[in-house]
Amino acid sequence: MAKTILITGGAGFIGSNFIRYVLAESDVSVVNLDALTYAGNLENLTAVEGNSRYHFVHGRIENSELVRYICKEFKVDGIINFAAESHVDRSIENAQPFVDTNISGTLALMTIARELCLERFLQVSTDEVYGSLGAHGEFTEESPLAPNSPYAAAKAAADCLVRSFVHTYNFPAVITRCSNNYGAYQFPEKLIPLMILNALENKPLPVYGDGLNVRDWISARDHSAAVWLAYTHGKIGEVYNVGADSERKNIEVIKAILALTGKGEELISYVKDRPGHDRRYAIDSTKIRTELCWKPTVPFENGLAETVKWYQENSEWCAHVRSGEYMKYYKKQYGVRVSVSGKPV
Ligand code: NAD
Ligand code: DAU
Repeated sequence: MAKTILITGGAGFIGSNFIRYVLAESDVSVVNLDALTYAGNLENLTAVEGNSRYHFVHGRIENSELVRYICKEFKVDGIINFAAESHVDRSIENAQPFVDTNISGTLALMTIARELCLERFLQVSTDEVYGSLGAHGEFTEESPLAPNSPYAAAKAAADCLVRSFVHTYNFPAVITRCSNNYGAYQFPEKLIPLMILNALENKPLPVYGDGLNVRDWISARDHSAAVWLAYTHGKIGEVYNVGADSERKNIEVIKAILALTGKGEELISYVKDRPGHDRRYAIDSTKIRTELCWKPTVPFENGLAETVKWYQENSEWCAHVRSGEYMKYYKKQYGVRVSVSGKPV
């Protein structure tokens, strides 16, 4: 019988990419549990709204009662946890929501998964748990955890909780740690969509520090394929790094975006650096490539060009996100909902 998977954070950038991917590539049913924070946008999922294998529930992953209810009601077989507060700059302003969702939320999900003996739990983590690299080397799964931002610390704490559940309770969990994602539907607080939209609107492109920090880019579609493989074929208790060998300096990415949008470099504006700004990330993904036969399919230059084109062609999505209009979509579409406990979610 086809399986049902609880996807958390499915209205966000990568979660929505994953839901489109998994509904197209498999016969599973999906329940999407999302709190619809500022980063959650149901307009990311209009393509699957009418799909009988897709269900949406509005709520928080910390709400154990709700998670238990969903798992029983939909006969959920396993959980893939994308839900998170995900933006480093916001975590520097206020770490509390990062602790609540990324740590307490992950613990709550695992507790219910264990109670109901679900067959699999996949924690979507990040390369930022490893900290920052110098000019040479790459993160492997054996690199020590050395998170530098409150966001990364909260993700690392969640990874440690997952590890402890595997070790203590034989909990059937797998962790993926991916590098920087890009692609359609990314909220324009992150580097690539922010720079594309600012360039299209002839606004300054704010470069932190000297612009020489390095990130290792991967398309969200390639990440989705890796998560699905790790969920279906990954070994319990293992960590899989995911990356596409596409290291670029921020300023290189920004100049490429200017070229693709036909704008001039006078829009580049160097601004104050991010506090504690990690210098370089680079991922060694040999393990998932050799053990699970995953490989990236989208070369960075092609993927970046496609992404710029997507933002140019989806001006309504961009306008709704820029104006906050997308926040009204849920109310218009679904009306006001309460959780199973009767409290508003
Ligand atoms: P995002 O910020 O775009 O989306 C996060 C989603 O989680 C939103 O839909 C939001 O409404 C939801 N959410 C937040 N708090 C919640 C809660 N308490 N309960 C239920 N839902 C909640 O994030 P993203 O960029 O799509 O990242 C998804 C996951 O992938 C995160 O776990 C992130 O740490 C990880 N990751 C991201 C990247 C990247 O480059 N963006 C790279 C590696 C790993
Ligand atoms: O490495 C994976 C991580 O990548 C994920 O875990 C995070 O969720 C995701 O947000 C991302 O973190 P970064 O901090 O690397 O991404 P961000 O897009 O915020 O920044 C990328 C680089 O660009 C970083 O060096 C900071 C710089 N930057 C960012 C912004 C928003 C700028 O120079 N100017 C900006 O305005």
